[in-house]
Amino acid sequence: MTKILVVSGHTDLQKNSFANKIILDRLSEIMPEAEYVYLDTEYPGWTFNVEREQERLKSADVIVMQFPFFWYGVPSIMHKWMEEVFVHGFSHGSKGKALVGKKLLVSFTSGAPEEMYQTGGVQGYPVDDFLTPLKQFARACGMEWTGYVYSGGLSYASRHDDEKLRQMKEKALLHAERVAEKVRSL
Ligand SMILES: Cc1cc2nc3c(=O)[nH]c(=O)nc-3n(C[C@H](O)[C@H](O)[C@H](O)COP(=O)(O)O)c2cc1C
Repeated sequence: MTKILVVSGHTDLQKNSFANKIILDRLSEIMPEAEYVYLDTEYPGWTFNVEREQERLKSADVIVMQFPFFWYGVPSIMHKWMEEVFVHGFSHGSKGKALVGKKLLVSFTSGAPEEMYQTGGVQGYPVDDFLTPLKQFARACGMEWTGYVYSGGLSYASRHDDEKLRQMKEKALLHAERVAEKVRSL
């Protein structure tokens, strides 16, 4: 059976998330066979058990990185996890072959709506452009880049508007379905 590892990179999923919390709660219902790692709750001091995280990665066939877009990339806790767990001799380098052939799926949300992500638009560039470092991260580790699932318009600013909240909840639930569907297709 395909082993799926879902890693949540939100910095505060319990107290400061709307969308990622809904996505992950729904995903764990519809994809219970996956292993879920919540970096913020498992490592409140952000000191990772590198060996344990490397073992989790090694035993997975599909790795899903779930995060909110923070300054056009992964949040700081997830970046720290990348820096400290994906080290030379493990994930890359002449002897670092542990992740070769694994499939990487990136799943993320943004506050700005999708249409703002286009050349010359409010966000300056298509959303794909901001994923270049992650694509090369996958490539450098010998992982297969399988694409991404993205939902925009999941904004902090809309948290006090009931109708907006309802729409965001629906979008987050749909996002989880899209992730599960994509994972099953891999
Ligand atoms: C520190 C920080 C940086 C953010 N940077 C961006 C950004 O670069 N682009 C964007 O569209 N939204 C940005 N946002 C909005 C978040 O992406 C959005 O609130 C999040 O995806 C919603 O998920 P959540 O409810 O699980 O936190 C940022 C939010 C924070 C707190």
